[in-house]
Amino acid sequence: MNYLDKQTLLSSAMKALDYLVDIENRKVAPSEEALLNLKAFEESLPDYGYDPLQTIEFLNQFGSPGTMASNGRRYYGFVIGGSNSVSMAANWLATAWDQNAGLGITSPVNATIESVTERWLTELLPVAKESSVGFVTGVTMANFSALAAARSALLQSLDWDVESLGLYGAPRINVVIGEEAHGSLLKALGMLGLGRDRVIRVPSDSNGRMRMDLLPPLNHRTMLCLQAGNVNTGGMDDGSIIRHAKEAGAWVHIDGAFGLWAGASDYKRHLTYGYPLADSWATDAHKWLNVPYDSGLVIVRQGEFLRKAMSMKGDYLDQSGDRIPYQFTPELSRRARAIDIWAAIRSLGKEGINDLITRTCVYAEYLADRLQEAGIEVLNKVETNQVLIAFGSDQETERIIRVLQQEGTSWFSGTQWKGRTAMRISVSNYKTTESDLKLTLDSILLAARKSELILR
Ligand SMILES: Cc1ncc(COP(=O)(O)O)c(C=O)c1O
Repeated sequence: MNYLDKQTLLSSAMKALDYLVDIENRKVAPSEEALLNLKAFEESLPDYGYDPLQTIEFLNQFGSPGTMASNGRRYYGFVIGGSNSVSMAANWLATAWDQNAGLGITSPVNATIESVTERWLTELLPVAKESSVGFVTGVTMANFSALAAARSALLQSLDWDVESLGLYGAPRINVVIGEEAHGSLLKALGMLGLGRDRVIRVPSDSNGRMRMDLLPPLNHRTMLCLQAGNVNTGGMDDGSIIRHAKEAGAWVHIDGAFGLWAGASDYKRHLTYGYPLADSWATDAHKWLNVPYDSGLVIVRQGEFLRKAMSMKGDYLDQSGDRIPYQFTPELSRRARAIDIWAAIRSLGKEGINDLITRTCVYAEYLADRLQEAGIEVLNKVETNQVLIAFGSDQETERIIRVLQQEGTSWFSGTQWKGRTAMRISVSNYKTTESDLKLTLDSILLAARKSELILR
């Protein structure tokens, strides 16, 4: 292998660019043929390596068609934003740098960019300005890290050092979550020894928001977990309860995987009222900010508890510098994730981010209104960027989702909502335009007409 194989690197970059250009001209889902061709990867372990250039060509030939075009303009599945060009470009450069982001001494540039991005994020998002920010993989790890800090703080106030003593024999703490809490929050609780099922679940309203009138009594042993952005409806928990919860001594955490970004929009900021009073927040840059994957964010008001939970000792681990990145995340060695986020924020600015979040919410409202006018049932109140629709019976809804996925103009995923099968429309790609919405609407309405649903 060449030390610097420019030909392979250039070939890969060119193929990536071709992929990005072609993505709008193909069906969103991979074809049957492309899926069958993935069998090409099932090779035996090579004794002697293949040529690197041929390896990239092979990857492109069989891999690119086998992708889901979720980076395209008409992908509305899950809550998957695309990747904006500047973040991708910064990611490529940072990959060439190959920095180990764990320590300041292994990557001064990463430590500096993390500090700056931390400051920008606390100004942009509805969080406490003095917070510490850790750059983790996604919200599963952001929830895990934030709740590790919560566990540490609550138990410290009960004279128990959980990092040193563990949970056996520890004072009891109570975890209060909404009925609609995301599964990753439960997984985080399980990984932290707090138990997936040892929680008090508060019922939710018709849009999946926690019923604050049904909260149990809160005190200094309570971890209260709110949600900003229900994964189905986009519903945002009401933050006006936070002041009361804090006065009662509870630790308030907000899982704002995508919904926290509503606070960066002039149009939607009111939905995040009270959020900056919480103690910790989890969010992703890979969802609504459209940064490549591996860009979760854990945000903790009293950063010392995040660092207490995440720190470790090692005589060889240099502790110099203003920021020691590994003290903010579960990992020691990792890539310099903050760089992609920094690039997005720097190139969009506050106004660009305001526009991205506002525009996608307005588009979701537009889709919901047009669909409703056409006689299609919209199951949720469109608070943010999510629309839930149903086409008559559960079987028919399932069938139409499959038809639309195969037809390929757009891509939607299905879900269960309040006992019904629903189709989820998540508008979260910065590239989606009004003409895309029209194409999308036409394809949905055509599928509904074919199924003889009565349309106005
Ligand atoms: C509310 C909420 N929490 C957590 C997650 C998990 O995030 P990740 O996939 O980044 O781990 C999601 C994913 O959609 C979510 O919507």
